[in-house]
Amino acid sequence: MRRKLIAGNWKMNKLPSEVPGFFEQLEQGIGGNHIDNIDVLFAVPFTHFSVAKEVLYKKRNFALAAQNIHQSLSGAFTGEVSISMIKDLGISWTLIGHSERRQYFNEVDEIVSKKVELAQKEGLFPILCVGETLTERQSGQMAEVLERQLAAVFGLCSSELPLVIAYEPVWAIGTGLTASPEQADEAHILIRKFAHRYCGQNYAEKLRILYGGSVTAANAKGLLGKANIDGALIGGASLKPMELSEIICQAASIR
Ligand code: PGA
Repeated sequence: MRRKLIAGNWKMNKLPSEVPGFFEQLEQGIGGNHIDNIDVLFAVPFTHFSVAKEVLYKKRNFALAAQNIHQSLSGAFTGEVSISMIKDLGISWTLIGHSERRQYFNEVDEIVSKKVELAQKEGLFPILCVGETLTERQSGQMAEVLERQLAAVFGLCSSELPLVIAYEPVWAIGTGLTASPEQADEAHILIRKFAHRYCGQNYAEKLRILYGGSVTAANAKGLLGKANIDGALIGGASLKPMELSEIICQAASIR
């Protein structure tokens, strides 16, 4: 049984000073519900780590994640943040290859796979984001695109080491257009097939695959109830503590 993971992706939103109030409200929303059977993490901006750590780690076993890391361990890369810097702060997860990184910062598969490889080597848990654009889906290229994005990583990375995949169809991110539970499950089955092909059955069965793209409290349960959907990567709704607490409780109620 794969443990569900709910991951919030704040992107470039909220101020560090807003963090304590957010988690207070989230706590109120969760109330007395039992959520110990799932994992919850927050990919916040680098500038929010210290305050988020202070308020979070005291109360809950929630984790923090970087939204991006550099593919070198140190050096002359002005403006970048390294894996060792993140780890030194006690942060243990990172998103890698989010579609916004691929689209606006030219992160091609080769860079993405280098980042995943280095993160795994250095003991940071990577959440690799993959997904097709609308044009790619409409022209029947979804499987091809997913295999290209995954092969770049599965070919290089150790199948012994931890990896979480987030399937985020680009057309569903921030658009209000969600993949239906059936469409998402179909893509997740495909991803698991590729994991099987490249890394073996045992690995594929254990691999957690999150769905991301306009997840809300209204559609989360339908998505999370599907056999191959092991959690969600949530952008917009993760900025709203009450809505997010609802999604967390819904995920925990699925047995
Ligand atoms: P969204 O973002 O939930 O706002 O669509 C998801 C993501 O980009 O991770």
